[in-house]
Amino acid sequence: MKKFLIIANWKLNGNLKFINKNINLIKKNINNSLSFCNLSIAPPYIYINYINNFLKNTSISLTAQDVDIHIKGSFTGETSIKMLKDVGVKYIIIGHSERRLFHNENNNLISKKFILIKNNGLIPILCLGETKEQKAQNQTEQVCIQQINNIIKNSNINIFNKTIIAYEPVWAIGSGKSADIDKIQKIILFIKKYISSLNNKVAKNIYFLYGGSVNYSNIETFFKTNIINGFLIGKASLEIQNFISLVKKSDKLISLLNRS
Ligand code: 13P
Repeated sequence: MKKFLIIANWKLNGNLKFINKNINLIKKNINNSLSFCNLSIAPPYIYINYINNFLKNTSISLTAQDVDIHIKGSFTGETSIKMLKDVGVKYIIIGHSERRLFHNENNNLISKKFILIKNNGLIPILCLGETKEQKAQNQTEQVCIQQINNIIKNSNINIFNKTIIAYEPVWAIGSGKSADIDKIQKIILFIKKYISSLNNKVAKNIYFLYGGSVNYSNIETFFKTNIINGFLIGKASLEIQNFISLVKKSDKLISLLNRS
């Protein structure tokens, strides 16, 4: 069975005091204590290497929140895939709606990042999802497929093998109101079917995460179906005690599901 993947996306939050206080707490409570889940932490770039030193030889992995398309050279302010690899990163989030919105990232740039990550042996987490306006106009499926097609166009369907797609409806992020599980199931199934029509084996090898106002109190609803293979969590990953409880609760809920 594939392990459920929980990623803490700290976005632009945290400092050395926060990390020093919490990273050992996470390590002590989580490392080797989970049977069905894997945990990954996505801190701001500047703290990745520091945290890596704490997480070496643990089951907890590191995720980067973005990557540049260049490997090296005169690109002030950027961080390359080789550097992320160098400091022990396993997954890289790309196409997050906050990068699309605040940094004008488009599907073409995101597809370049996806291909670069895959070709360098790390695992891309492609975020996709509709805005409130697109939802109102019933464009969810179209928007998600466009984002996927752009990557296929610049490479081929095999590029999606062993990658991660995170369905993150833009309107649900940070709103305190998550998407309805029936709607999440519908869109993930739709994407899965689409990819499977192009290559069934590849479709089976993709992890599907959900992100958007996941918290300790609402996680039960997401386990009503086994369509979701993990969570991408923002705000609720910053309250560390609660987050540890959320991770442990997820592990327990999956164990109950497995038994029934
Ligand atoms: P929230 O959990 O704060 O809604 O953020 C979700 C998200 O953007 C994860 O990438």
